Amino acid sequence: MSKLSLLFVSSEVYPFAKSGGLADVAHALPRALNAEYAVEVCMPLYSFIDRKKYKISKRSEHFDITIASEVHSVELYGCSCEGINYCFIYSPLLCEREFLYGTPEEGYADNALRFGLFAYAVAALLKEKQHEIVHLNDWQSALVTLLIKEDMSIKTKSLFTIHNLAYQGLFPRHALEALAIDSKHFTMDALEFYHQMSFMKAGIAYADAVTTVSKRYAQEILTPEFGCGLEGFLKHHEKKLSGIINGVDTEHFSPAKDKMLALAYDDLKGKAENKKASLKEIGLRGIKKPLFIFIGRFTWQKGVDLLLEALPSMAAFDCNIAILGHGEAGYTTKLEELAALHKNIHLSCIHDESLSHQMYAAADFLLMPSLFEPCGLSQMIAMNYGAMPLVHQVGGLKDTVVSYKDFDDKKEKGFGIAFKNPNLTAFLGAFEEALELFANKREYNKICRHNMLCDFSWDKSAQAYSKLYKKITHGEKS
Ligand code: GLC
Repeated sequence: MSKLSLLFVSSEVYPFAKSGGLADVAHALPRALNAEYAVEVCMPLYSFIDRKKYKISKRSEHFDITIASEVHSVELYGCSCEGINYCFIYSPLLCEREFLYGTPEEGYADNALRFGLFAYAVAALLKEKQHEIVHLNDWQSALVTLLIKEDMSIKTKSLFTIHNLAYQGLFPRHALEALAIDSKHFTMDALEFYHQMSFMKAGIAYADAVTTVSKRYAQEILTPEFGCGLEGFLKHHEKKLSGIINGVDTEHFSPAKDKMLALAYDDLKGKAENKKASLKEIGLRGIKKPLFIFIGRFTWQKGVDLLLEALPSMAAFDCNIAILGHGEAGYTTKLEELAALHKNIHLSCIHDESLSHQMYAAADFLLMPSLFEPCGLSQMIAMNYGAMPLVHQVGGLKDTVVSYKDFDDKKEKGFGIAFKNPNLTAFLGAFEEALELFANKREYNKICRHNMLCDFSWDKSAQAYSKLYKKITHGEKS
């Protein structure tokens, strides 16, 4: 029997373009599915992608796509990387940019048109190639669901994954006309969201199945607290909604084969060597002191406000804190001020993949006070690197980190420190628990050793996706 063919669509894929966890998922999940499916991954060919380095070459096919009487010429490019075939979509409008997304103030007011064109190009690809399944991710590719529902000649079934409901692709109503979408879709039960046009709603309304990246988040988004105004709409589509937890790419993130580290390791002794090397490198002192790290984007979602509030109290303890990330300027400035004030806080405001690996290897604890977290990958990476996560018990963090108080070596679960409410008292309480646990070396080491052996690979989750693909391809086009 020939393999089912799958087109996996994402606006970012590591190593070509990355702004967050979506790029890691779009890199690893297709590879986990590659044995069972004929997979092709599709993304925009942003101008900053190094075509030479990845041997990206022009394909003979191209499309002229007419949207609201504007003709856009779209070229296709391709390459093969780590066993996966990539199809890149190029048009100047979509790709000649410094950033992936940007804000209207940064000159990205035409994002509706950019990613609308991306969706039209994907639909054109599907018309030509008729993949059995298209897997779409986040608002940037959500409109494909609508375009293929409208075109009866496209038989492809669609799965839409929400990686983060807080980013919905909301645009002024006139985007509808600019994208030549029939106004009959501008209703409450379709694209309209408080008088604006929502790309995300298209994905939810028209996909054959909808997933989020953890079971817990799939439940949370049905409530006003986490539903970002879409809870009622999601509830209406609840039957086709499910949660599949992300995995970690164990080729890329494995301390035993990690070439980015001072020393690859598979035990706590090797980890200690990495800690020593990293502390020296970043100028922090005290190998015996617990090292807390924060790795992530500086945005409200990641709990940076809480972190900022807690840092002065944390720094007063005998510990080290290293922060790596980048993001909103307001947060960066405040973090810089704190790092200048406390010599046991180190800050690196860059995007540096190697440094992040080295930090996981060096750390004793990973701080993740996220206000909400659809899945989160860092906590799983940290556990495999022998660093204990300290998390707000929410979304994917709740699904992947069990409290150390319930430690059970027999359980195939990762353990860490978890706090229930995202407030200063709870966060600092968890921090003090961490210090106490760290002082009890035997207990702490036992848990870390267990976490290092936990299987957070994509295997099980890829199977869950596979089951879902089969379910939707067996159903009729609804
Ligand atoms: C988004 C979410 C994060 C998730 C990632 C990949 O960045 O905020 O929780 O892990 O997507 O699905």
